Amino acid sequence: MASILDLLFRLLIIAVLMQFRMNIANGEPQVPCYFIFGDSLVDSGNNNNILLTTEKANYPPFGIDFPQGVTGRFTNGRTSADIIGQLLGFPEFIPPYATVTNEEITSGVNYGSGGAGIRPESGRNLGGRIIFDRQLLNHAAIVSRLSLLQRNRTFTNEYLKKCIYLVNIGSNDYVNNYLMPNNYPTSRIYTPDQYATVLIRQYSKQLTTLYKLGARKVVVFGLTFIGCTPAEITMFGTDGKPCVESINNATKLFNDRLKPLVDDLNNDFSDARFTFINFTNIFDPRVAAKPSVPCCQVQPNALCVPNSIPCTNRDMYVWYDGFHPSDIANTDIASRSYTALSPLDAYDISQLAQL
Ligand SMILES: *[C@@H]1O[C@H](CO)[C@@H](O)[C@H](O)[C@H]1NC(C)=O
Ligand SMILES: *[C@@H]1O[C@H](CO)[C@@H](O)[C@H](O)[C@H]1NC(C)=O
Ligand SMILES: *[C@@H]1O[C@H](CO)[C@@H](O)[C@H](O)[C@H]1NC(C)=O
Repeated sequence: MASILDLLFRLLIIAVLMQFRMNIANGEPQVPCYFIFGDSLVDSGNNNNILLTTEKANYPPFGIDFPQGVTGRFTNGRTSADIIGQLLGFPEFIPPYATVTNEEITSGVNYGSGGAGIRPESGRNLGGRIIFDRQLLNHAAIVSRLSLLQRNRTFTNEYLKKCIYLVNIGSNDYVNNYLMPNNYPTSRIYTPDQYATVLIRQYSKQLTTLYKLGARKVVVFGLTFIGCTPAEITMFGTDGKPCVESINNATKLFNDRLKPLVDDLNNDFSDARFTFINFTNIFDPRVAAKPSVPCCQVQPNALCVPNSIPCTNRDMYVWYDGFHPSDIANTDIASRSYTALSPLDAYDISQLAQL
């Protein structure tokens, strides 16, 4: 039974990829532009030139399977945001804000930064990073640049409404904040329930800011099973369970409030469509028949040891390092967010693109 489902799933991915080839052949992406916000799950090189941060992936063996090699992506190949861009028909990867040129901004910008969180202080223990509020300010600057280039404010406003905006943030508010009581007071101030509530309140304001900057098709990712990452398992132990349950319980409280937030935003802004991607439904490392150990040798900070030799059978691993999914896992995540397999997954990105 499991293998039949697996086969069907593979066939579906092939079908999706064929559609992607057709889009490439047509040469036209389904939407004119694609903007990406978030943390190391989507960062494509924004942290490379930040001084005083340990959160960098601009060295081998990161990028070992990426066409351009090392770029600053926190995985062996593409991030899920990269693959979603391919499924949308973009012939090139969306460039990072750090290096984007005026010619490139018309097709979109990637603002993601390893270590970033919803809360400004999250990830401070890692050093420099571009927090979500700052990413939104950077986007405001890009909107101004685009407006100057296009020389017609009405045109630019209409243009921005057609784009896809993907947001994948919140992991660091747990991993590099709430779950570090020696560095941050949040776990003493808030119960897990209260913390999820304050995070959602702040996230609501930030997504509203994105709407005010012209976004109308917004993809909001829920949190993954952070308690199943090799790094958290090593740090906290699992008490005989497959994952650190207390962490998954805490992040579930956040996810359970995120879907209603997305519904509220859709009610408040009837000319927009926000969609919640149920990360835990599309990516459950506990059922993936793959080892829950990292493919590369990891340092104490859970990133790969520089210049170490990673595993050779990388398609057999969910995790590339202690936190970040491998290219193959990202392919599954992207395919299922693009084309939902179950009503529990999402109102999917392919539908959003067609609106
Ligand atoms: C500006 O863009 C709008 C919308 O595309 C268009 O209708 C209008 O003619 C443009 N104005 C100028 C001066 O080109
Ligand atoms: C996590 O939640 C489950 C289901 O509500 C509960 O049975 C379990 O005791 C919780 N575990 C921890 C460690 O909080
Ligand atoms: C997300 O997926 C989980 C796990 O399958 C499920 O329990 C939950 O109801 C889903 N959430 C939504 C809002 O569909």
